[in-house]
Amino acid sequence: MTTSHAARISRNEFLSRQERFRSVPSTNDIVRTWMTDGTPEVCLAVADEQTAGRGRSGRSWVAPSGSALLLSLGFEPTYAEPDRLWRLAAIVALAMADAGEEVAGLPDGMLALKWPNDIVVAAKDAPAGIRKVAGVLGESEGAGTPSVKAVIGIGVNADWPRDRFPAELVDVMTSLREASRGRPIDSEALLDAFLLRLEPRLVALREGHFDVASWHDRQITTGRHVSIDMPDGSTLAARAAGVDGATGALIVEDAAGERELLVGEVSRVRLASTLEAAEPGAAGGDAGRRGVTH
Ligand code: BTN
Repeated sequence: MTTSHAARISRNEFLSRQERFRSVPSTNDIVRTWMTDGTPEVCLAVADEQTAGRGRSGRSWVAPSGSALLLSLGFEPTYAEPDRLWRLAAIVALAMADAGEEVAGLPDGMLALKWPNDIVVAAKDAPAGIRKVAGVLGESEGAGTPSVKAVIGIGVNADWPRDRFPAELVDVMTSLREASRGRPIDSEALLDAFLLRLEPRLVALREGHFDVASWHDRQITTGRHVSIDMPDGSTLAARAAGVDGATGALIVEDAAGERELLVGEVSRVRLASTLEAAEPGAAGGDAGRRGVTH
């Protein structure tokens, strides 16, 4: 059953509407419905639990009740050109990386971005040398029209102890709690810290500014060999040369030269060592967890 606590989440005045739910199918769907019904930007839905959480490329997103910060924000980005809408997801990821480091007491820069918007930490014991802390799902409609709408959802593994990680994800995921060696993570404090950091980034975006430097600096993908799953089922092996702050693209190079891949053109990026771990018979890795992401 969908239950609204109707609780006030914070005093952030840039929010037009904010609600917390105990359990919903997907916070992205809640916000999309609100916007269809005329709720202006910026609206925020937060849930303790999702029964049909969605990840990128049609995958599902799972988290036990209370273990993750699950939220979606609704924007009316008439201030962004259609080819700059990706920046909304980027500012959400950047604001959450900043907030996560503060609330978990992590050193600056410990939370990295794996293109496009995964928040990860370096982990020597993990197959690809990283573990995922958070994922971002952006969905938009009406791009290029005055009624453009974008819903950006983020799921952050917050106060989630390792002994409760699902077996199929234990090799590739972590949480802020584990990254901080067991420090309890207060999701409300994380939400407040996030909103505090999001607002100035959004104000800047409305004025045409995007913090390209921070976005570049947090990229863990840059300089790494990657395997890229394409929507047609093919795989591209290449070196990630960087990211393009204008288009949001991943810049890759292989024997054919250098080219840019836009977010919508890619299903999944894996850092190279994931490939070895994902060989048939290997434990963990993405190959063993089709359809579920973290
Ligand atoms: C990914 O890494 O694949 C993106 C995951 C996005 C999950 C969040 S949780 C809140 C919001 N509601 C959803 O159904 N998905 C996003």
